[in-house]
Amino acid sequence: MPHAPHPDGPDGPDAARDDRPDDRPDGLRPATLAVAAGRPPRVQGGPVNPPVVLSSTYVSQGVPGPDELLYARGGTETWTAFEEALGELEGSTAPALVHASGMAAIAAAFALLPAGGRVVLPTHAYQISLAYAADLEARGLARVTRVAIDDTAAVVAALHGAPGEGPAAMLWVESPTNPMLEVADLPALVDAAHAAGALVVVDNTFATPLGQRPLALGADVVVHSVTKYLAGHSDVVLGAVLTDDPALHARVLAHRTLHGSVAGPWEVWLALRGMRTLALRLERAQANAAEIARRLAAHPAVVEVRHPSLPDDPGHARAARQMNGFGAVLALRPVGGAAGADAVVAAVRLWLPATSLGGVESMLERRRRFATESVTVPADLLRLSVGVEDVEDLWADLDAALRSAAGELPVEL
Ligand SMILES: Cc1ncc(COP(=O)(O)O)c(C=O)c1O
Repeated sequence: MPHAPHPDGPDGPDAARDDRPDDRPDGLRPATLAVAAGRPPRVQGGPVNPPVVLSSTYVSQGVPGPDELLYARGGTETWTAFEEALGELEGSTAPALVHASGMAAIAAAFALLPAGGRVVLPTHAYQISLAYAADLEARGLARVTRVAIDDTAAVVAALHGAPGEGPAAMLWVESPTNPMLEVADLPALVDAAHAAGALVVVDNTFATPLGQRPLALGADVVVHSVTKYLAGHSDVVLGAVLTDDPALHARVLAHRTLHGSVAGPWEVWLALRGMRTLALRLERAQANAAEIARRLAAHPAVVEVRHPSLPDDPGHARAARQMNGFGAVLALRPVGGAAGADAVVAAVRLWLPATSLGGVESMLERRRRFATESVTVPADLLRLSVGVEDVEDLWADLDAALRSAAGELPVEL
């Protein structure tokens, strides 16, 4: 596929990205793009992988050209390869803008909110995103309306605002939500937000670009915690912002440079290396998650399981319409309340008790162990990030932990 032109055009700051010979066939599918995009030019004796360039500055004198690499806070060859690849994967006409962490990317996207503007946020979302919005509000920089993101009518009403409140300037979406796995009706919310004059930002961390392409559904901005599935090995912290809109792209780029929230070259190189296997990892993790969810739904020591793959899950039909697969995070409420959930975490021997998600290794945690997690998240909710191990080993470990935890409690099985 010919590399998408950069929105700043041939004279823009990233024009160098468009200069390379690119003889890839047209119409490559996402799983192929994850492997093929962001490669150096095919030249005799050239490397097949981009270099890790460890230089804070570049040889330069005189008035710098618009596309000249000058200083590593502004860009490096290692970033360029990753940014091109993720841009193509997300179906964006412009390269991604890599950031030092998912939160740095989120802060850059929130900076698109006009000062004092109103943002509509999900009741349940990544807790630090919610904390960030609350901090903006506390400092008088934003007004925040929280709403159940899977309740389309409530979101539409929130976008229009209460009498005297005025319409929202931004809609912030997670789908599926962290950690409740609610699914938003993305096309409907994008239409409603645009009708109200609001910018739509989607945190696509849980779905990944292989599972969901919000820009194609009309969203204005996508953010990722690259830390999770994109990098995929629990060894880097990194984030990215994507947008097709040239003016928004320029603003996010300026924000990154002004705030200096930039990534190190090693991290970006590791993320691109991890992204090469995204399709394989996700396929396996999603299949494992669906199978584990199906078995958990019939488990005697389970009160509730949420995963959009389950036919009777409230988000199933929507997810089937707008996603490719159902993701690999699930929510589980074991018997015995918060103590029962803690006992499950203490009993697993293969699953890792750890925060985070999206790595090859399966992890679980009780979210309300954090005093900062929303009180509307049940105290006994375990978030499970299902990895790529053999599903029978994962099941044997989880089943044994659920049974032993329930046995320690006064519960009839
Ligand atoms: C949905 C979601 N968005 C953003 C983030 C923040 O990303 P990072 O940890 O890379 O700053 C997380 C982290 O858990 C997340 O789960």
